[in-house]
Amino acid sequence: MKTLAQPTLPGHPHIAYDGDSLRIEQVSASALAASFGTPTYVYSRAAIEQAAQQYLHAAQGSPTPVALRYAVKANSNLAVLQLLARMGWGFDIVSGGELQRVLAAGGAAGNVVFSGVGKTAADMRLALDAGVECFNIESPNELAVLDRVAQQAGRIARVALRVNPDVDAGTHPYISTGLKTNKFGIAQDQAVDLAVHSALLPHVRLVGIASHIGSQIASVAPYLDALDRVLDLVQAMERKGAQIEHIDLGGGLGIRYTDETPPTPQEWLAPLLARLAARGFGHRRVMVEPGRSIVGNAGVLLTQTLFLKSTPAKHFAVVDAGMNDLIRPTLYEAEQAVVPAERRRGMALRYDIVGPVCESGDWLARDRSLVLAEGDVLAVLSSGAYGMAMASNYNSRGRPAEVLVDGDKTHLIRPRETVEQLYASERLLP
Ligand code: LLP
Repeated sequence: MKTLAQPTLPGHPHIAYDGDSLRIEQVSASALAASFGTPTYVYSRAAIEQAAQQYLHAAQGSPTPVALRYAVKANSNLAVLQLLARMGWGFDIVSGGELQRVLAAGGAAGNVVFSGVGKTAADMRLALDAGVECFNIESPNELAVLDRVAQQAGRIARVALRVNPDVDAGTHPYISTGLKTNKFGIAQDQAVDLAVHSALLPHVRLVGIASHIGSQIASVAPYLDALDRVLDLVQAMERKGAQIEHIDLGGGLGIRYTDETPPTPQEWLAPLLARLAARGFGHRRVMVEPGRSIVGNAGVLLTQTLFLKSTPAKHFAVVDAGMNDLIRPTLYEAEQAVVPAERRRGMALRYDIVGPVCESGDWLARDRSLVLAEGDVLAVLSSGAYGMAMASNYNSRGRPAEVLVDGDKTHLIRPRETVEQLYASERLLP
């Protein structure tokens, strides 16, 4: 008798056990590993679309027009961008490369905002020629360079000033961006002067203000603090003659990795829109730039256990995915749940799940209680964001394959990288 699907894993829609077999939508993780090999990133189309839909829903029904701009850096696979473009999403990019991906996936440059603290003149030119809607500017010198590049291109660049509101988002120091000691944004006490100065630059037009305070943020309070400071600046800028058409609230909404309970897009956006309205800005255009909360819980990394190894100090499960495939655990000490593709009965041991890379920092999870045998396939949950996007070729390891599951269908959206591809552009000496 077929067992009924159990409820999805907490925070992971469309990823669930059917009896003892893990499924991504209707396809078993074991079958995926057998067909595509390991390590492989697997994404649920339904989960991506559900998360994107939640933002669309949160944006509807408010008098404030909300422009949704997916942060490409979280997961830049063309098929993922294509799904979001088809749903009407625009994009937040941080490089010319990301712009080219958006265009290749069918996105419209007119719905693209160009963020980032270190844009090159070449990337600015590419973006101007493509016709992006806005450059989020982070320093006076960057604004000056953009003015010059726009002059050369014979265009006017629309800009927003990204300000640093100096609020503590309460997240990991590496992914906090809105503190005054961070490299990001324009200091509050310099922002109004820069807005005034921008009017003297003939090839830029100030249209917006932006802030982004960090990533994996689990509460609304720091956003409200940041918004209040941003709105104070808008008022000060407008007293001096600027006209701010849009307010970019950034991204950063957290997801559930283990036991976090972040707000939903609705719970996040509603109080921010209410604050805007309460302060008389309810009819300005708002932009949001979420990345992780769209794709994070829609993806898993499948990996196979190569060896079980016990020392007097520890039990290790050596798996075929390493820090080059998924760097979040070792880089941020991030905890991601690891579950078996097939649950087995037996005695659980506490394992460190480690990769094949020659570094002690090469671990995916520590101290996890699992019943394991060599050859077992494991799924590292919540790997859809900043997983493949941050993967590298360290130790001459080809990056994993990427597969999108859609109901009972699977699409290979990026084959596993071959070693020949890794050195194809290298040259031997004569
Ligand atoms: N907008 C800007 C200007 C950003 O810098 C970021 C992320 C986002 C939007 C999207 O934030 P999200 O909604 O994804 O939190 N690699 C790290 C995360 C780095 C985030 C950098 N900026 C991690 O794996 O946790």
